Amino acid sequence: MDSIRIRGGKPLNGKIEISGAKNAALPLMVACLLTDETVTLSNLPHVADISTLINLLCQHGVQAHLNGQSNGNGNCNGRAISLTATSITSTEAPYDIVRKMRAGALVLGPLLAREGKAKVSLPGGCAIGTRPMNLHLDGLEAMGAKIDIDGGYMVAEAPNGLKGAEIRFETVSVGATEDLLMAACLAEGTTVLENAAKEPEITDLVRLLTAMGAKIEGEGTDRLVIEGQPTLQGADYKVMPDRIETGTYAIAAAIAGGRIELTNTDASLISSVLEILTAAGVSVEETEDGLIVSRDPASPIKGVDVMTQPYPGYPTDMQAQIMALMTVSKGASMITETIFENRFMHVPELTRLGANINVHGHSALVRGADQLVGAQVMATDLRASVSLVLAGLAASGETVINRVYHLDRGYERLEEKLAACGADILRIQGE
Ligand code: EPZ
Repeated sequence: MDSIRIRGGKPLNGKIEISGAKNAALPLMVACLLTDETVTLSNLPHVADISTLINLLCQHGVQAHLNGQSNGNGNCNGRAISLTATSITSTEAPYDIVRKMRAGALVLGPLLAREGKAKVSLPGGCAIGTRPMNLHLDGLEAMGAKIDIDGGYMVAEAPNGLKGAEIRFETVSVGATEDLLMAACLAEGTTVLENAAKEPEITDLVRLLTAMGAKIEGEGTDRLVIEGQPTLQGADYKVMPDRIETGTYAIAAAIAGGRIELTNTDASLISSVLEILTAAGVSVEETEDGLIVSRDPASPIKGVDVMTQPYPGYPTDMQAQIMALMTVSKGASMITETIFENRFMHVPELTRLGANINVHGHSALVRGADQLVGAQVMATDLRASVSLVLAGLAASGETVINRVYHLDRGYERLEEKLAACGADILRIQGE
């Protein structure tokens, strides 16, 4: 397994091009199951989760064609993929693929809507929490599906097709909103989704589905009204910029000091993160295609309290990164996680670097340390891993992050992007 070695203490200066959003691209790719025509997506990030989903879609009978686009420096600045599901050859999503990536379970609604049946492995829990599927299942049942759990699989049938229904989510769920939104596009009649997630990735999906001929009202709100259509058509669509990658590199500039320009992105996608960074004493300037984040290495970071919330609140996917920043603040910070029950696995690893963090239930009290000191640490999930990279940029001496395959699931060429700004960072190939 590869590891990443960082020699910290170097300010970062330069430009980073933000990739397309993994968490938008995954549902957009799944949407190809709703039509027998071709869906082409550009600005596709080159990360492991995308490859895993391509494998899953191909075994449902989808034909996938990838086109790389190089900018001449060996950097792949966005790829395009064409996905054609002329016919669905298998409605089964096997455990071996879905266990690697929860987003694989999103095929449930679209397969059921198009084929009237689906057998999809339960994704199971993962490091950050139990992550049940009840909202997906209850919603599809309300639309007329009959679903059993058998041998670890969700076995669903709707022989007469799905019917429109009024569904109110008891918890805001990104995945359940996406799953039911896609299913509703091919259901008979009108579906209303109340208390729907409003994350920008949902808006991206609404826009692709609309380009495919779906009739959806309420884009960007928590009430989506979908008038089902008998068929959808193909479309060409550009994946939105990755707001979590944007926020992560903004925090890289903040923690290491220096000035980084982030391009091919949109500052308004991470307003809640930028508010916190500004309160912490970091400079943020919006530009036409992104933002510039800077901090004089001599000026201190202030402690700020943070609570994760559904969009437009502070994202849970940026919680580990802000905690890394707060470990070197002058002051204290209370970080509260409200979305997932177990998303503090980075705490013991940050502590190995000298961070002073006390967890009390869903909150972590972080007292700024004078200096983090490099050590060997272990990545446990995607965002926890990147928080260790960020801490390593600030730590003195050498930090080695082991098990970086988690990082490769969601960050494209992370070490290259940071090294181009002056970070002393190197990937060490494992056996
Ligand atoms: C998406 O996961 C993202 N993944 C996650 O990003 C992100 O952390 C999460 O949304 C919250 O923003 C993708 O988009 C691929 P949820 P998802 O359903 O859809 C509970 C990353 O690091 N819930 O919004 O699986 C659930 O347990 C990843 O890139 C139910 O109770 O998250 C959680 O507490 C990690 N029943 C809350 O809702 C359900 O049926 C929000 O989860 C579904 C969810």
